[in-house]
Amino acid sequence: MATVVNHNESTVIEIENLHKAFGGNKVLKGFNLTLQAGETLAVMGKSGSGKSVLIKCIIGLENIDRGKLMVLNHEVPQLNRKQLDELRTDIGFQFQGSALYDSMTVRENLEFPLRRHPDKLGTDYHPDKLVNEALDDVGLLHAIDMMPSELSGGMKKRIALARTLIMRPKIILYDEPTSGLDPITGKEISALINAIQERYHTAAIVITHDLACARMTSNRMIILHDGKNYAEATYHELAQVDDPNVKAFFT
Ligand SMILES: Nc1ncnc2c1ncn2[C@@H]1O[C@H](COP(=O)(O)OP(=O)(O)O)[C@@H](O)[C@H]1O
Ligand SMILES: [Mg+2]
Repeated sequence: MATVVNHNESTVIEIENLHKAFGGNKVLKGFNLTLQAGETLAVMGKSGSGKSVLIKCIIGLENIDRGKLMVLNHEVPQLNRKQLDELRTDIGFQFQGSALYDSMTVRENLEFPLRRHPDKLGTDYHPDKLVNEALDDVGLLHAIDMMPSELSGGMKKRIALARTLIMRPKIILYDEPTSGLDPITGKEISALINAIQERYHTAAIVITHDLACARMTSNRMIILHDGKNYAEATYHELAQVDDPNVKAFFT
């Protein structure tokens, strides 16, 4: 592949000098990030450093105070509700916790986004086929008629991911995809993130505390510290950096 250059047409997210505060609590203080098509970027930062806030800004769930925020060639702060809703169909996001609807079966959970956006995928797509395909992608076709309460933590995360995949997103934002899972289940989720990237060539941001997950999934990493992109390099480069704020994540 050619050398990656910023600001080219394959840039899917471009964030420059992003500022976001809650009252006197300045969370993001000049944060920069670019994400290229097909790339997986891991963002690591301490608890409360603003990782989830960053994701919420990207999808327009939080307003930003200042800076540039372009997603799939849209200036997010300029979009009205309808445009934002449309943009979000191109972005899969997985919040901490799986957020399945407890009163619906797995099948109904997966059909939900399709019913909200029936036009997104055109007339060639049949809901049943999409639901089956998405469940097959995450290895859980057999769970189609189960209720969320019957699923393990790892299965819930897989189903939530299947529900995201069904809309064929161009970008997937994972917020701590392996948190709360044992290391082995965590590795399975990391492997699944890679399998999905290979199958659909989606760009992704993986927010994680889990070093193994960052190592397995990312092409590049950003350390979010003090509201800024404090360090940025590949996993193997960062692992060599002799700076306490970076080293803290590699022990
Ligand atoms: N809606 C909100 N209102 C006020 N403060 C918030 C809100 N959301 C997040 N914060 C604050 O922003 C900071 C970063 O939070 P968050 O992005 O959730 O951290 P993390 O890096 O652990 O995901 C924290 O100090 C949190 O209390
Ligand atoms: Mg968070």
